[in-house]
Amino acid sequence: MRMKRKPHLDSRIEKCAFLMVKQPAELRGRWLGESGCHELRLELGCGKGRFTVEAAKAEPDVLFAAFEKTQNVIVTAMERAAAEGLKNVVFASLYVNDLTEYFARCELSRIYLNFPDPWPSNKYARRRLTAANYLEQYSLVLRPGGEVHFKTDNLPFYEYSLGQFELSGFEIIEDIRDLHKNGPVGIFTDYEEKFHNQGFPVYRCVISKD
Ligand SMILES: C[S@@+](CC[C@H](N)C(=O)[O-])C[C@H]1O[C@@H](n2cnc3c(N)ncnc32)[C@H](O)[C@@H]1O
Repeated sequence: MRMKRKPHLDSRIEKCAFLMVKQPAELRGRWLGESGCHELRLELGCGKGRFTVEAAKAEPDVLFAAFEKTQNVIVTAMERAAAEGLKNVVFASLYVNDLTEYFARCELSRIYLNFPDPWPSNKYARRRLTAANYLEQYSLVLRPGGEVHFKTDNLPFYEYSLGQFELSGFEIIEDIRDLHKNGPVGIFTDYEEKFHNQGFPVYRCVISKD
């Protein structure tokens, strides 16, 4: 179902246009450029951006790129970053099918997959951001030792993803079944807060490229 565009969406996006990369493929291989940052991380499917904004605040010498296909939600992410006056975060509004169009080999140090859509039907398995077709791309654009940080509330999707990780050549360095069991851990995303407040466990896996 197509989502209705939010009122005033274009003018809200325009106000934050300085944070938006319109042609991300043109930055391939030179994202860090004059940023003064020493590494580049990506959140793929950033939604309303709570995670990326908090992470960028916490690590000002890391450049965060946040990609999101839905303009209705990325606008909130950009407004949050603008309100914080952040200089180390950039956004791109697009559907990512092939990350290698946007990042050169070994350009990224980390990729965050926070509560990606699980696409339960096998018909859409290739859209899962932990499917083999995406993992092959992550392996190309991550530097050696680079990591993918994956969180979800969905146990069947988590277990499917672990299986994909095992087949992919990445090393699983963390596999936590109830991340916040003993109290909140790390930076929350918008979805994470919602699920955590409803009492659902959060699953987190970190994988590393050799
Ligand atoms: C369930 S939401 C989670 C949002 C956010 N990461 C959080 O945890 O609050 C997943 C988001 O990923 C975006 N998304 C899914 N597949 C994508 C793709 N291939 N390229 C860009 N965005 C994508 C969706 O539009 C949606 O906003």
